[in-house]
Amino acid sequence: MPGYFSKMINGVASLLTVSLAMFSFLSLSAEAGALVPAGTDGQAPVLMPVPSSIQLSQDKFRLDEKFYAGGQDQPGGRGFKAVARFMSRLGGRTGLFLEQDFLADQTPGPNTRLFYKYERVGRLLPNEDESYVLEIKTERIELRAPTDLGILRGLETLLQLLSSDDSGYYFPCGRIEDRPRFTWRGLLIDSCRHFMPLEVIKRNLLAMAAVKLNVLHWHLSEDQGFRVESRTFPRLHQMGSDGMYYTQEQVREIIGFAADLGIRVMPEFDIPGHSTSWFVGYPEYASAPGPYRIERGFGVFHPVFNPANPATYKFFDRFFREMASLFPDPYLHIGGDEVEAVHWKENPQIQAFMKKHNLADNHALQAYFNLQILKILTKYKKKMVGWDEIYQPGLPKDIVIQSWRGTQALVDGARKGYQGILSNGYYIDLCEPAERHYLNDPIPPDSPLSADEKKLILGGEATMWAELVSPETVDSRIWPRAAAIAERLWSPQEIRDVEDMYRRLRVISVQLEEHGVQHLRNQDMMLRRLVGTVQVSSPEMGALRALARICEPVKGYARHSQGRKYTSLAPLTRFVDSCFPESLEARDFRKRVEEYLSSRQSIKARALENDYFLPMTTIVAQTSGLSERIPALKEIKPLTEKLRELVFIGSDALFYLKSGKQPGAQWLEKQKKLLEELKKPQAECQLAIIPAVEKLLTALEEGKK
Ligand code: ACM
Repeated sequence: MPGYFSKMINGVASLLTVSLAMFSFLSLSAEAGALVPAGTDGQAPVLMPVPSSIQLSQDKFRLDEKFYAGGQDQPGGRGFKAVARFMSRLGGRTGLFLEQDFLADQTPGPNTRLFYKYERVGRLLPNEDESYVLEIKTERIELRAPTDLGILRGLETLLQLLSSDDSGYYFPCGRIEDRPRFTWRGLLIDSCRHFMPLEVIKRNLLAMAAVKLNVLHWHLSEDQGFRVESRTFPRLHQMGSDGMYYTQEQVREIIGFAADLGIRVMPEFDIPGHSTSWFVGYPEYASAPGPYRIERGFGVFHPVFNPANPATYKFFDRFFREMASLFPDPYLHIGGDEVEAVHWKENPQIQAFMKKHNLADNHALQAYFNLQILKILTKYKKKMVGWDEIYQPGLPKDIVIQSWRGTQALVDGARKGYQGILSNGYYIDLCEPAERHYLNDPIPPDSPLSADEKKLILGGEATMWAELVSPETVDSRIWPRAAAIAERLWSPQEIRDVEDMYRRLRVISVQLEEHGVQHLRNQDMMLRRLVGTVQVSSPEMGALRALARICEPVKGYARHSQGRKYTSLAPLTRFVDSCFPESLEARDFRKRVEEYLSSRQSIKARALENDYFLPMTTIVAQTSGLSERIPALKEIKPLTEKLRELVFIGSDALFYLKSGKQPGAQWLEKQKKLLEELKKPQAECQLAIIPAVEKLLTALEEGKK
């Protein structure tokens, strides 16, 4: 069966060749794009999101240690603090000892080179002006904006423009005029399925600001946890959180931290379903008697508020009065998704209530509940936001519907005059490629909506549901893919070049580390922990890392059906958790295969052998040893065996393609069947390089026709 190439790699190739080849693969696979500094001569600038208008020239503003920034803000002002952070980051990226004291007066003086000016302090509300104009001349940079929010957005752009050449660092001269396409550009963080400590929220807020996201949608109550201190109803956090909740002081700290970054914080309290944790301390408001315990499993559960009990609304009146004063944002999210009616059906009192009020079905009962909640929120000057299930005729037009089940709900809502935000297609917990999210547009080019209806689409939100993430893995599920969503929501509709997005995403991903997000670095840490020592020979460690880089966790919710039952107590420390949701190495490999197939140049085939197939053989050899010695890595043994098979298929196919010889029909059928077997998940992972090998087989098959 094995052809020429696989015989060669089993026998002839010297150890030296193999290990050198592995190093080239490893260096290729280590943040390949990051090796290209942002905006180095000859490269298009790495801006993400792409501004609405950009003109750059060949001239350069040269950066030196006498670079001073000045504007009208006082210490403590949002602009002042943003400029101080900018200077610190600029020093950090360049190693320059910038003379300006972070806390110095920013009044413009003779040394000032960066001037910023705005008209007024921006309000943290939808439709606030975030536009700016950035002008870079050889001796002077000007950043002007109607509000200080525009100054913040412009500073991020300026920092992304930082470039280098043989003479040092510089900003390219030119003019950028920029404004967001959508006003609501959010990230949902679920602090309930797994609690996310304060520092997780803060580092992600900083990263959000770097890509101009402006809403933190904070999912704060769920079956698995109630995460905010309530002084009115203290048993909520005392009995519903395992002690893992945010104090009101901490909530205010986050809100202030976000406000300094020009980010709104919208809380979500998910009712009437998804609410088990509330009932641990307050079973009297549930539809069934209880007792209740904090849910450990994941899914949709029966506990649900009792909409027929007047005490429920008295409870919510007091609860929302407290939360309305804690959270200053005018919007408050009430969830409303996935209500299970089992306890409603089983409760005769609720059934009698429905009859009495002519509530024909459960949806009508939930609509009744929502209307009572709406009255309470209105009383406390909050506008209601909910998942698309909350829609019902007659709701006031200032509510916002968040579409998660499909884009049609967004269209239907807008046609009826409702504001909407899109999350369907932005579920980053599903571990799908950035490309898929990037091309998902809240208002696609073929949108059936009228111009007025389109105005009701406020934007979108990436959703980081936390069933399968912990504080140490959550960043890797958010970044860098959320940056692609940030671009979709900020940049003009025509900016849709996927290749260019990936070129920039690799660089931005590394820049984001400046804020402490751990999406890249934690992979090594997690692999070290599995191996149990840093003294393991480095080829083995390197090979394990290289293996992780060509594997992806299974997509969607498939991890829940791979044989292990996940709960909020399950370890998220296995090999699969260390793998990135999208393997950029696999993407590169696929591109290289495509390039070979379109050119059929033998030099490109040889490069595939040397840069990919040979190093993969070494990965197999090295990681097989690890998987035999280390119990926690036993589960990857079959994965490495699959990789071995895949290398045989790929290198044999390449041999046939290169030589022009035809394989027998039986051989081809057999390989195709094998490939289908290899696609089945192993250790909850899939080999992300299978599609590229499949392309080689397909090319062979088509050549036979
Ligand atoms: C949701 O994903 N249930 C909003």
